Amino acid sequence: MQKVAKRESWSSHNIFILACIGSAVGLGNIWRFSYITGLHGGGSFVLLYILAVLFVALPALIVELTVGKKLRTSAVKAFREILGTRWWLVAFPLGLCLLVLSYYLVVMGWTLFYSFTSLGGQYVPFESAVGDWALPFGGLISLMIVWIVARIDIKSGLEKVNIYLFPIFFASLILIFLNSFTLSGINDAIAYLTTIEMDALLSPINILNAITQAIFSLAIGAAVMLTYGSYLKKKEDIFHSSIAIAIADSMIAIVGAIVVFTVTFTFAIPTTAGAELAFESLPLAFLSMPYGSLIMSLFFLLLFSAATTSAVSLSEVLIDNLRIKLSSRAKAGWAMLVLLLIFFIPSALSYSPIASDFMVDGIPFLEFLDAHIIGRFAPLIVVASLIAFTWGWKGCKKALKENVPAPFVTPIYLMVKYIVPAAILVFQAAEFLI
Ligand code: PFF
Repeated sequence: MQKVAKRESWSSHNIFILACIGSAVGLGNIWRFSYITGLHGGGSFVLLYILAVLFVALPALIVELTVGKKLRTSAVKAFREILGTRWWLVAFPLGLCLLVLSYYLVVMGWTLFYSFTSLGGQYVPFESAVGDWALPFGGLISLMIVWIVARIDIKSGLEKVNIYLFPIFFASLILIFLNSFTLSGINDAIAYLTTIEMDALLSPINILNAITQAIFSLAIGAAVMLTYGSYLKKKEDIFHSSIAIAIADSMIAIVGAIVVFTVTFTFAIPTTAGAELAFESLPLAFLSMPYGSLIMSLFFLLLFSAATTSAVSLSEVLIDNLRIKLSSRAKAGWAMLVLLLIFFIPSALSYSPIASDFMVDGIPFLEFLDAHIIGRFAPLIVVASLIAFTWGWKGCKKALKENVPAPFVTPIYLMVKYIVPAAILVFQAAEFLI
């Protein structure tokens, strides 16, 4: 991102798209998508996810970018402009940002761990890794890296690095994807990911989780896209870019899931293993191929870098808004660190030698926070933001008209103003009552 007078703006449209993809593509595609798919119905979940991207996440992404582009300011100021005295509603997207980042950093640490151990030709099964302090230590390193990057404001450098790393990440994913076809579990994996069962398809909890996953993966609801939209210049396109981002992000998630579940079936790992699923299966995928440990090391390092761009997008939003109250970027950085640690520490320790002290409802704190707290509340936070953008702000439809081809304006507006909020609230109520 290159700075120009007043509000910064993207140096080119491709950089904008890459930054959005950088925020969208990360652990959510490889780690979260596969484990949540395993917990919520396999093929039925994949179908629900595709529908959630199309009908919830994509319209919400277009609106969030549009609001950002129109108001050209930080989240707090944008909410002040839209909602006046009720601007404090911005606490919901910012809270989502903080919660996600706090445990996201922990999982980034797991990718670092596998990158380094496999470089030394070592294979450490996930359950043995949990018996050691290395996983939380990896999380701590990730926290330090993201914190330093956020504080010294080297986003533009990072975006450039991302331009080169992203294609290599994608190529290594395709490599293990192709290798999956040599494993015995490929047919079972494809059958698992394409079998649709009516019960699973109609379950409100599965539907809500598909919506959460689409929201998480496209980085919506946490004011990240609002902030990224605010750096756009007037003439720049939102509609086609959003479609491109959604397609790229979903394809990576589906390719990742085929790899993960092929190994899951080949090595009889339970599909419902939970948050550790990808980290149990991916190392085995690599070890089944020539030069596996080297490629594995590279892949996890690249996944770490993809995750870094997502984590930095979250930290950027937090710092950008904390700075309004705290006057300096440095102070905002410290405040963010303190807030992050509240959830980072129990998340990191829930996969450590003292993990048994950090179990909630029989599962690790991190998985509880991710699957149950975020899984349940992220859709409500998106409802709150959409209500703020559409009901709270008179300029929304006009701004959409300036950014979306005419035939799509009304359908998108109706979706985000009525249908998506009502549907999410109905599914929440149904899930609560069942
Ligand atoms: N979309 C990122 C991923 O899939 O890994 C995670 C993320 C980034 C979530 C930014 C939310 C967000 F605002």
